[in-house]
Amino acid sequence: MEPAIFITFLVFLPLLFILISRRSSKRLPPGSLGFPIIGQSLSMLRAMKANKAEEWLQERVRKYGPISKLNLFGTPTVFLHGPAANKFIYTCSEKLMANKQPASIRRIIGERNILELSGDDHRRVRAALVSFLKPETLKQYVGRIDEEIRFHLKNHWYGNNEIKVMPLMKSLTFNVICSLLFGIERGPRRDTLVKLFEEAMEGVLSVPINFPFTVFNGSLKASEKIKSIIMELIHDKREKLEKNGVSSNEDLIMSLLSMKDETSDSHVLSDDEIVDNIFVVMVAGHDTTSILLTFLIKLLADNPTVYNLVLKEQEEISRGKALGELLAWEDLAKMKYTWKVAMESLRINPPVFCSFRTVLQDIEYGEYIIPKGWQVIWASCMTHMDENIYSEPTKFNPLRLESQATSPPPYSFMAFGGGPRMCPGYEFARIETLTMIHNLVNAFAWKLSLKDNFFGRNPMPVFHQGLPVQIQLKKSSDAIQIYQF
Ligand code: HEM
Ligand SMILES: *[C@@H]1O[C@H](CO)[C@@H](O)[C@H](O)[C@H]1NC(C)=O
Repeated sequence: MEPAIFITFLVFLPLLFILISRRSSKRLPPGSLGFPIIGQSLSMLRAMKANKAEEWLQERVRKYGPISKLNLFGTPTVFLHGPAANKFIYTCSEKLMANKQPASIRRIIGERNILELSGDDHRRVRAALVSFLKPETLKQYVGRIDEEIRFHLKNHWYGNNEIKVMPLMKSLTFNVICSLLFGIERGPRRDTLVKLFEEAMEGVLSVPINFPFTVFNGSLKASEKIKSIIMELIHDKREKLEKNGVSSNEDLIMSLLSMKDETSDSHVLSDDEIVDNIFVVMVAGHDTTSILLTFLIKLLADNPTVYNLVLKEQEEISRGKALGELLAWEDLAKMKYTWKVAMESLRINPPVFCSFRTVLQDIEYGEYIIPKGWQVIWASCMTHMDENIYSEPTKFNPLRLESQATSPPPYSFMAFGGGPRMCPGYEFARIETLTMIHNLVNAFAWKLSLKDNFFGRNPMPVFHQGLPVQIQLKKSSDAIQIYQF
């Protein structure tokens, strides 16, 4: 052999060897992929339905550690756990990980909905939604939300001895969104929409088989009708805008229609984009808040000390107002304790159980590799129940969020997600929740009708009996006058 070639070999072979062995030292995370296609999906869904999903995931962490592989919904998946993993996901470049929803959701809600978009499209649509959902815009609507809530209490709580909390909270949050986002008055059009949305939502996590009479087919039909109603609204509102010649923030649709690009004077969102995103905001915004409100009613019934502190804070606010005067933005800032109670409720029972992303390029994570085409999944409940972050994690203790010393470190409270896709509806949910709790504790006392209120996840928590409570109108004549009962 020529010495030059020999030397080349001598130098490059080990180098090549090091390179190869480096590559292969990155290995797949531990864990089994289970049966083809089905994998662990059924096992996890069963655990969710029985409200044992947290235990199911904890068992994984005990067995494999904070990173492990499995197979969910037909795709190989890596499950990640812990604040470091949360940070990694929320700060990951969108070139490495993309948002991903099951095909059924994409088909029902539409291709242009924000959950499906990435890069500049995502930023543009998100900015448009946020310009309505930001505090500076929403602050003027506190009174309108209060009005909708009082109407609800008058019609569904007053005059009853017992009510089912969960279905009522769903109806309330639906109506608030109809008013604020769609600008649809109470009446037949709203009632039709409620039914259509229920039908559309039934198929969101179904097997996407489109034959007549499948759940999915029914959902697609409902979705088409919803979209034509939203399109009608768009035409009506555009006419109104053109007649008045001014932009408007009267509701989300008006606000999106009014938005123009400053340089090109063209509309920021196409009509199809407005339709899909009005749809997604309804889906993302209504069940989540209704679940928070439902758990709050339960937690307040279970914890009289907390209830009394909330009541004290809310009575203080009422004292500063004229009889029957609607709440305003400034009043919400005074509801600090009540909001801590809500946040602690979100910690213990986060409405969104787990989230998914799709891996676009091989990702190195610690000593492991997460291959392109796989999905990543993480669960807020796992972080929220981590003893290293929250002492006695199952204990309901709103004051744990009180002092700087005990407030959770970054990436440890995840009910609203994080990073560039963090929930843009936070402020809306806050206004709605605080306003409802203010009205409720002032007007009613309640206690749970059942000793056990079982709930499962589907994927959102569902109380099997709907959380029935016995209610009592507070004696003071104030409530009667305020609500014109
Ligand atoms: C207590 C109530 C709520 C909770 C717990 C909640 C939770 C979440 C979570 C966990 C995400 C996903 C973040 C991620 O993937 O990283 C999200 C996204 C989103 N939420 Fe909420 N949400 C709530 C209320 C609302 C409301 C009231 C609205 C609208 C009025 C809304 C609109 C949205 C939208 C549009 C997204 C998608 C954002 C994007 O992809 O950029 N949410 N929410
Ligand atoms: C429902 O199924 C029928 C028969 O396959 C099909 O013609 C129809 O388009 C489907 N509906 C929707 C909304 O996709």
